[in-house]
Amino acid sequence: MIGRLTLSQPSFSRISELMYARSGVALRPQKNAMVVSRLTPVLRELNMDSFEGYLGYLDNHWEDKDIVDRFVNAITTNRTEFFRDKNQYRALAKELRSLRDSDHNASKLIRIWSAACSTGEEAYSIAMVGREIFSADEFGRLRILASDIDTEVLTNASAGIFKSHQLNPIPRRWLKSGFGSPDPNDPLRRTIHPDLRKMIVFRRINLVTDEFRFRKPVDIVFLCNVMIYFDIKTQDLILEKIRRILRPDGLLFVGHAESSAVSRHGFLHLGNNAFRRTGDLERIEV
Ligand SMILES: C[S@@+](CC[C@H](N)C(=O)[O-])C[C@H]1O[C@@H](n2cnc3c(N)ncnc32)[C@H](O)[C@@H]1O
Repeated sequence: MIGRLTLSQPSFSRISELMYARSGVALRPQKNAMVVSRLTPVLRELNMDSFEGYLGYLDNHWEDKDIVDRFVNAITTNRTEFFRDKNQYRALAKELRSLRDSDHNASKLIRIWSAACSTGEEAYSIAMVGREIFSADEFGRLRILASDIDTEVLTNASAGIFKSHQLNPIPRRWLKSGFGSPDPNDPLRRTIHPDLRKMIVFRRINLVTDEFRFRKPVDIVFLCNVMIYFDIKTQDLILEKIRRILRPDGLLFVGHAESSAVSRHGFLHLGNNAFRRTGDLERIEV
């Protein structure tokens, strides 16, 4: 059994460098205790008793995807909830109604990307709003991509199983239609309704290192509560990539503390951390 681990300043710096290189997440020195608590279970699994030993192991296995994913997954912050910012979902509903009612867009697919979806609450909230606005034979027009760097949260997101206390923020009218019946073996667990699950594709995308490959421009992007973990250089890099794949006039939603970064990139602030892309479409990766 390993006792309480301590993380020296040089080892913390090395962990920060590796995390930054792999994910863009910039760990400030005051995150030392957080890193210790998040990596301790990983060291326990490996039966290691020092961060120096673990760093040597990471250096020797830097090409091993599973080992490096385990490291990144352990450190990411995945806090999320259904309908986290209610005003944004009102703005989303307004936008979807206007796309539904415009002749110009009739029958076109509507592409929405939840770009740091964590355990999926954001993507399922989007799906609930969409399903209310589009009739049963029309909601197939909505295509939702939900992605994250963290492979463990993606597995949970894809399963769509939630504890009943996590459902508290969901408006009552969607609670019944959004979930299957309670599991008789575990009445506190609820599984997302298959109709909502079908609307979403979950995929691993690293916002920093991956190219964004979309055949068609995306209509709406949720990039919420992830840029706060990046430095300005990384925020700018990601926002430029988002700008390239978002359709002119498309919507971008970000978290409360993330608006100032977006304003530097040719977006019009509509309020409530919702932005409209301005300018023409420059280039789409195919
Ligand atoms: C705090 S959660 C936000 C979840 C959700 N968007 C929300 O607002 O409730 C931040 C998520 O960003 C993800 N993340 C961190 N770095 C990333 C990167 N480079 N690429 C993609 N996702 C990343 C984390 O794994 C985590 O799940």
